[in-house]
Amino acid sequence: MIKALVIGSGGREHALAWKLRKSASVSHVWCAPGSDGIGRDAKCVAASTTNIAELAELAAELKPDFTVVGPELPLVAGLADQFSRRGMRVIGPSQAAARLEGSKIFAKQFLERHGIPTAPTYGIYDSVGEAYAAMCAVDWPVVIKADGPCAGKGVLVTSSPDEATAFIERLMDKQEFGEAGTRILVEEALEGKELSFIVLTDGEHILPLAPSRDHKRAFDGDQGPNTGGMGAISADGMIPAALEDEILQKVVRPTLDGMAKDGSPYVGFLYCGLMLTSEGPKVLEFNCRMGDPECQAIVARMDFDLGEALQAAGESQLDRIKARWRPAASVCVVLASGGYPGHYETGKPISGLADAESLGDVVVFHAGTRVTPDGFATAGGRVLGVTATGADPGAAGAKAYAAASRIRFEGMHYRKDIGIVG
Ligand code: AMP
Ligand code: GLY
Repeated sequence: MIKALVIGSGGREHALAWKLRKSASVSHVWCAPGSDGIGRDAKCVAASTTNIAELAELAAELKPDFTVVGPELPLVAGLADQFSRRGMRVIGPSQAAARLEGSKIFAKQFLERHGIPTAPTYGIYDSVGEAYAAMCAVDWPVVIKADGPCAGKGVLVTSSPDEATAFIERLMDKQEFGEAGTRILVEEALEGKELSFIVLTDGEHILPLAPSRDHKRAFDGDQGPNTGGMGAISADGMIPAALEDEILQKVVRPTLDGMAKDGSPYVGFLYCGLMLTSEGPKVLEFNCRMGDPECQAIVARMDFDLGEALQAAGESQLDRIKARWRPAASVCVVLASGGYPGHYETGKPISGLADAESLGDVVVFHAGTRVTPDGFATAGGRVLGVTATGADPGAAGAKAYAAASRIRFEGMHYRKDIGIVG
């Protein structure tokens, strides 16, 4: 029987732990640090996700068969290298391979070098003066990206030269994101629909996960500020089979081959953030992990043993695994704290959780909650991911919204159009 360790504490990690616990091949699921909500499905162990030496010590003690890493920062910081040196198996890329997410400039140069479709670049700048000057020679809208990780706040798509210069000033002059913003990439804006195409890979074999789509803006109709993700949909009909083949052939395969050729073979989840343009799929970004909340929607439809699949990925035998997705659609609606993605308060008592979960085909993943003597209370910006499955997105959405309407906490807000727009 498999023993699994999950690193992280959010809704994505709860979904992974939940599915692993349900996997027939798995006997133990630990989560470090996990959370009170994740504690329903895994044994949570205190740890800091930024202290990779401590995580390696913990894994050496627990002796899981593999460790699967939820968030990007420990991977970008070299968790997989440290574990591998000690002979411990990690489902996640090495530090060198995680640069696909850790440095947008590395990713762009990699894409260009290997002829993988992406937005054309205007330039890469490390001086504020040159960056300002570049704004005189671009077509609008333009896209400005900080090189390093900025917690989802390092990208601006704008048609306003004033907004562009103000963003460059914040990144490069005021250094609001420190080092991460001192080099920037300026590229052309692409038009089309976005798609999250995530695969699990052992470096050679590819297990494509069901396609999904995030809803990043705070309010209905894709209005308001960007967030970590207010909901996600996954459905069979989202992309035709021919487009999936095209994505595999033009994006995923050349990315894995290119990484191997460049000496940094890629193992783990590879998240391709794509724009489906009139000229075909183009890469907007790579992430070196599952998406959050895409993971919640994807996992809800997984009709195969996740423990076995992750174990096979760690043993370079992913070709043994056959993915099946049932039912045909899922919707995850994120319930957020009042004020999120800006300032919000925590500690608000949550009611209706059991009532929501008593509905069929519904599971509520905990993203930011903690247990109090009176039950669960809010403990983060994104609080819960109410996830439902159905025969089509409409049916899944109706169940997710019926469940969401049974849950209450002061200030709670959520989008009412997950799976309907975008
Ligand atoms: P990234 O972190 O690179 O995915 O950027 C965050 C978001 O910015 C994406 O999900 C897109 O909505 C948007 N974006 C990034 N690059 C482009 C581009 N070249 N054209 C249009 N939108 C983009
Ligand atoms: N949902 C977008 C992300 O995980 O980056």
